[in-house]
Amino acid sequence: MSEHIKTELDQRVLTLRLNRPDKKNALTLAMYSASAAAIEDAANNADVRVLLIAGAPTAFSAGNDIEGFLNMPPLGDDNPVLRFMRALALFPKPAIAAVNGVAIGIGSTMLLHTDLAYAGVSTRFQFPFVNLGICPEYASTYLLPRIMGHARAAELTYFGEPFTAKTAQEYGLINAVLPDADVEAHAVERARKLATQPPNALRVTKKLLKRWGHATVLEAIELEAEHFVPMLKEAESAEALGAFMQKRKPDFSKFK
Ligand code: COA
Repeated sequence: MSEHIKTELDQRVLTLRLNRPDKKNALTLAMYSASAAAIEDAANNADVRVLLIAGAPTAFSAGNDIEGFLNMPPLGDDNPVLRFMRALALFPKPAIAAVNGVAIGIGSTMLLHTDLAYAGVSTRFQFPFVNLGICPEYASTYLLPRIMGHARAAELTYFGEPFTAKTAQEYGLINAVLPDADVEAHAVERARKLATQPPNALRVTKKLLKRWGHATVLEAIELEAEHFVPMLKEAESAEALGAFMQKRKPDFSKFK
């Protein structure tokens, strides 16, 4: 288990906590691996009825660790990022997210794969992929237009600008906006309530809800990764990631 991922089982709810607050819960390969292992284990553990993914008050997650993108790009079909993505997308029981602070990149696209998500009113959401010279991931190119329509999905991904929890709710990305301090208690209450529902009925209902898009989601995860990983090595992305590390504005004027 990574020191940056904590798990706790209480009242049949497994809480998986992203715990690297000094880096806004930016995800390293070790964090993906530990999360994937915890989710795979929870899928097979009858003591777990609900998964709750939580972060820190200042950050749910600022997305993939940018230094990691530069030094350790996620390669191979069994890499920790894809393993994490599939573990959550295939998780057969209800999954809930409690979101505060920032939800950027996979910190946002992960919410397309939880069943319910609650966010604090001051949460900053963002899909910054294009700004980083890469493309969206985690089947978001399929799920975002499906959930919110092409025009909204295009606006959020092409500009890559931050958006509010209110917009996230209006666009169908999250269930509810709450005062920041109330998010986790609300998510825990919902998780505990679900943990008292008939578990097989929940599993069958989740399977049926996801059935129609499921194969496409798995295909989209792969197709996006086929673009995303090579793009990390290209000049647009080198400019964007280098600018982030050097704390300066990127300049894309020379690219064709
Ligand atoms: N990868 C690596 N480090 C990250 C990070 C990321 N995705 N997001 C934040 N950090 C680090 C910062 O570099 C900083 O580290 P330092 O204290 O050693 O300098 C620390 O976390 C705090 O972040 P900071 O930028 O100082 O906080 P902020 O409140 O001003 O801004 C964010 C927070 C999340 C808005 C900003 O850090 C950001 O835009 N991060 C990048 C998000 C991103 O593009 N993710 C990739 C998704 S594909």
